[in-house]
Amino acid sequence: MKRTDIIVPITVAQYSELSQTEKTLVDAARAASTSAYAPYSRFSVGAAILLSDGNIVSGSNQENAAYPSGLCAERTAAFYAHSRYHEAKFETIAIAARDTSGAETPAPIAPCGACRQSLLEYETLAGHPVKVILYGADEIFILPSVQSLLPVAFTDFQ
Ligand code: THU
Repeated sequence: MKRTDIIVPITVAQYSELSQTEKTLVDAARAASTSAYAPYSRFSVGAAILLSDGNIVSGSNQENAAYPSGLCAERTAAFYAHSRYHEAKFETIAIAARDTSGAETPAPIAPCGACRQSLLEYETLAGHPVKVILYGADEIFILPSVQSLLPVAFTDFQ
């Protein structure tokens, strides 16, 4: 037997410490959270993806009275990004959220498991790590890749 430890490096940053490119992407995610359709949870999430061709695609969570029919912000953005710009690679994704009062969450929120799984596949397609920026009003987490959020992942079984 042998033991393998997986270490997830998280950079904790303030907004002012981000590069201009990162600020632009984070701002797109923050703006996208205002277009969430979340009458059931009242939790509004925005995601913005920077593509290799320079385009930024954003999305927000879209809920439905038949609850499981809704979709998280990350997959709304990712599915549209790859539908619209299918030759571009994902470079960075930023995620931001607002609580039930509409205020930006102080702490970063992290993507759900299903979104991690979906994003991982676009990272594999890109052939390089996709940086993940999790925005919180008080602090921001920067992770080097989607894979770092989903270690020991299920991948193509063929
Ligand atoms: N949600 C997202 O859009 N992204 C996440 O990372 C976590 C949760 C949405 C799903 C649902 O519409 C609401 O937030 C509450 O869970």
